Amino acid sequence: MDTGKRAATMIMSTRKIYFYAYFLIAALLGGSLTVAGQTTDQAWFPKLGYHGDSPVHFTIRVLGKSALEESAAKELDSGLNSLYGDSSFLTKNAITGTTVLGTVHEVQESYPIASIPADLGPEDFSITTNRQDGRLMLIIVGGSDRGLLYGVFALLRFLATDADLTQLNFRSHPAMPIRWVDEWDNPDGSIERGYAGRSIFFDGGSVRDDLAPVAEYARLLASVGINGCNINNVNAAPQLLDSTHLKQIARIADAMRPRGVHLALSVDVASPQKIGGLSTYDPLDPAVIAWWTAKTKEIYELIPDFAGFTVKADSEGQPGPASYGRTPADAANLLADALRPHGGVVLYRAFVYDHHLDWRDPKADRARAAYDIFHPLDGKFAPNVIVQIKEGPIDFQAQEPVSPLFAGLRQTSQAMEVQVTQEYTGQQRHLVYLAPMWKQVLDFDLRADGRTTPVKEILAGKAFKQPLGGMVAVAGVGRDAWLGSPLAMANLYAFGRLAWDPNLTPEQIAAEWTRQTISNDPKVVSTVDKMLMESWPAYVSYTGPLGAQTLTDITGSHYGPNIEASERNGWGQWHRDDPQGIGMDRTVATGTGYAGQYPPEVAKFYESLSTTPDNLLLFFHHVPYTYRLHSGKTVIQHIYDSHYDGAAQAAQFVRDWATLEGRIDQYLYTKVRDRLVYQAGHAIVWRDAIVQYFLKQSGIADEQGRAGHYPGRLEAEDARLIGYKVIDVTPWEDASGGKAVSCSHSNPAGSQGASSPETEKIVPGPASYQGTTSVVPKTPQNESGALAPEGQENCTADWTYSGPAGRFDIAVQYFDLQGGVARFSLEVNSQPTASWADDAILPSRRPHGDNSTRRTVRAVELKPGDALRVTGTPDSADPAALDYIEIAPAARN
Ligand code: GCU
Repeated sequence: MDTGKRAATMIMSTRKIYFYAYFLIAALLGGSLTVAGQTTDQAWFPKLGYHGDSPVHFTIRVLGKSALEESAAKELDSGLNSLYGDSSFLTKNAITGTTVLGTVHEVQESYPIASIPADLGPEDFSITTNRQDGRLMLIIVGGSDRGLLYGVFALLRFLATDADLTQLNFRSHPAMPIRWVDEWDNPDGSIERGYAGRSIFFDGGSVRDDLAPVAEYARLLASVGINGCNINNVNAAPQLLDSTHLKQIARIADAMRPRGVHLALSVDVASPQKIGGLSTYDPLDPAVIAWWTAKTKEIYELIPDFAGFTVKADSEGQPGPASYGRTPADAANLLADALRPHGGVVLYRAFVYDHHLDWRDPKADRARAAYDIFHPLDGKFAPNVIVQIKEGPIDFQAQEPVSPLFAGLRQTSQAMEVQVTQEYTGQQRHLVYLAPMWKQVLDFDLRADGRTTPVKEILAGKAFKQPLGGMVAVAGVGRDAWLGSPLAMANLYAFGRLAWDPNLTPEQIAAEWTRQTISNDPKVVSTVDKMLMESWPAYVSYTGPLGAQTLTDITGSHYGPNIEASERNGWGQWHRDDPQGIGMDRTVATGTGYAGQYPPEVAKFYESLSTTPDNLLLFFHHVPYTYRLHSGKTVIQHIYDSHYDGAAQAAQFVRDWATLEGRIDQYLYTKVRDRLVYQAGHAIVWRDAIVQYFLKQSGIADEQGRAGHYPGRLEAEDARLIGYKVIDVTPWEDASGGKAVSCSHSNPAGSQGASSPETEKIVPGPASYQGTTSVVPKTPQNESGALAPEGQENCTADWTYSGPAGRFDIAVQYFDLQGGVARFSLEVNSQPTASWADDAILPSRRPHGDNSTRRTVRAVELKPGDALRVTGTPDSADPAALDYIEIAPAARN
């Protein structure tokens, strides 16, 4: 055994004990390696497991003493321990000498003859092999201690993905200086548009005592190069700026600092009035200026590395400079001046629009707002202001064009805002890997001044030679395993990787993530990556066609289908469908003129029907349903086909994932499988809603005969009902045939009639159950069925099977409402066949597409004349509402 091997063996003998102790504890906790709580184990960090022999030496020499350097050493040590803890050997080609960590300056001092790049920027790093006394030595060098930390994470990524280290000579530089996450957390612990439990930062109006998850989160962020974290909702709570809260917030900054993540805050521009006791918040008022100057100083005394402020103003009811006839530049510069002496920046959001637009006005267009407001201000912002622009002109839709404002600001630093939290893209219950969508935007060439100006170059400050710029993701992490869904973590990972290097491909990032998070097994990598890559196109195909945006309830949950929710109100997310056609005319010639906001080459492209790509057709043009796409299909046939194809793709994900059973951690397997099964059912809800809506609206039949025909479907309203009564579902397209049955005296709240969109724009907290007494009537009336017997607690729907004999899958489509956990059971000829509780947490307390859920009972033998019965047992405010059952030949697997 050579000495390197022996040294490694000695070090590893203690590691081995630690490693086996871990396994023992894990086994005692239930056999799964997935630990509960808020840890990086749930993410892409190195997992305990067998990774073969180590290609690098375990002896680490760290040259500096700063907190970031200590973190770098700790991360490397624990990463190596996780990856190779059970191995006693180094690989044949291992880099056998010490692994050295330091800054350029430190390495030059300690190893004057080492060959390292001397020109690294502060966040840059390099990983090189050098010879020292005849032995190969690995040197990770950072332009500063922060760069070193990023270098260590890069090395761990190489190791965990089994990359070839033999030719290792690598340097890296982040493309953009601003790489932030925004958390929309409220002081009470709820998270706006968060789908993973409660805040890791706040609870009950204060900062949480336990900030261990925050420290872990900072590790996650740093591992993909994210350097800033804004911890509170853009709809900001002004009280967070009072002295008591700021002291608490300083603890959050302390928890993130060792991983180099700077804390930022969202501020309400009316704070001087709301908490400062001033009579005004006019940005040009000297007292207001003095207030912000003093407040900012107070912040820096507590948090010396404070990153800056994010501002949402004059938007969706937030106060803003417009109240005083001032511009966004006035407000931004006020804050920028206060921050500048301390090195902070202002991220001023361009998400400013009038949400009381007149929908009758064919020229009114929300998509125009950001450009109309901010383009005239170009050049008027202070150098430490960055205008933060959502990727598209509307609002995180599943499909939108790129915001034209990116080319409309030439003398202003810009950041692009995207969402990791899947507000309009399935809220983490649907698998939607967003990197391909972001990548399309990053690569989009806006052709400013007729030259190549892709968005990624604009954000990097290169295209227009700006000092700052970057990417910001609304992350929405919570206490339920960060994002609630294991596969959704690929989005957080991808965001960081793209902000560091927008030239990476979504496929590369997916493979990196899967290898680190799930397995290096090629079958696993190829299956998961295929699913990830297909997931966004699938979601787009079943939730809204051809750039008409996500056809969801835009005034409420933003989750299930609700096609008319975006029409005829002031929010301006119109797609303008009528019996003849669909789409917003945004051309210069006949429409709102939005297309003309792009630089001429791109404007020309969107102005013409002949050059507008099919996937954005309805964003730019109003066309008849019979209009023929470049694909050769008519618009209406595309609507039918894409929704059927998308739902079929969602069903395919379940089958793809099933091939991984036994190859991956069982807990992960089951958790993801259950979500995919749910998604496949909900994709059918989406498909049917949109297809039946446009079938009715257009009056044009589906060439393939699917729309409006549901073989094997037995409607609940057509069943023999006891206790159940027929209800109208709103919107009608969310239930098969517009009707369902409910086991309740009265219709569940709001099941009839749309609520006013203007008042329903909600700020959702986490779903909660509010127990009420049972709603089961003593002597329920039933429009179409018999009276339930006295004291009946259940309701039943009965059908007689009349199809051929055979083996079938029976899908039960029901509404899983908030406010109680109803139960359902299925009986065939009075034999219990399946029973379950509707215990998912889904939006809304009334039955519609947000909570319509499918349960499939597999392989049931049926013959003509068999009696089928669904029994619903309501609980509290959940009336066990039922839409239909559907009988289909049993699936082969
Ligand atoms: C969306 C979202 C809001 C959020 C807003 C914003 O409209 O639904 O919850 O406040 O975006 O980005 O400011």
